[in-house]
Amino acid sequence: MVDGYVLWFTGLSGAGKSTIAGLVVDELRQRGAPVELLDGDEVRTHLSKGLGFGKEDRDTNVRRIGWVAGLLSRHGVGAVTAAISPYADVRSEVRAMAHNFIEIFVDAPLGEVRRRDVKGLYARADRGEIPNFTGVSDPYEPPRDPELHLRTADEAPRESAATVLSYLQRRGLLK
Ligand code: ADX
Repeated sequence: MVDGYVLWFTGLSGAGKSTIAGLVVDELRQRGAPVELLDGDEVRTHLSKGLGFGKEDRDTNVRRIGWVAGLLSRHGVGAVTAAISPYADVRSEVRAMAHNFIEIFVDAPLGEVRRRDVKGLYARADRGEIPNFTGVSDPYEPPRDPELHLRTADEAPRESAATVLSYLQRRGLLK
């Protein structure tokens, strides 16, 4: 059986986590690799329905994702997660629960994600309509030593996805 792993995407809202994770998952599926995607927005409609964005609820959300990803990774599956996961201490907790944890910092400067404002949420946060908005009125603790650091202001999502796939190959986690 192939070895499982967790691709843990972390970064600000709008940095490109879901887009890159989606491209990586599509490619892995095409190659026949066993893979599951746990996307932040989707998890919050099912597994974490009802949770908010205060520290305690975010920690609970991230621990749930980490727990499921950990289980999958120990059964030969590639678990791909895409949640902001803003707190470094909880990210190290979920790292400890996983088999082959690969932390991927999806790094776009705040100015850039504000400019993109894909979902219009930064504008709403600025107007005070969304409390505890990450990067605006809530913290984001960047990873200090991630396995991969993607700078999405400087490269296209396809390039970032290719970097992730070649990393998996180098690690012997992808045939
Ligand atoms: S996490 O902090 O718990 O990891 P998660 O990735 O699940 O966050 O959810 C983030 C998404 O929820 C954002 O992309 C955005 O669409 C939405 N959202 C709603 N309120 C907030 C908020 N206060 N801070 C950040 N994102 C928010």
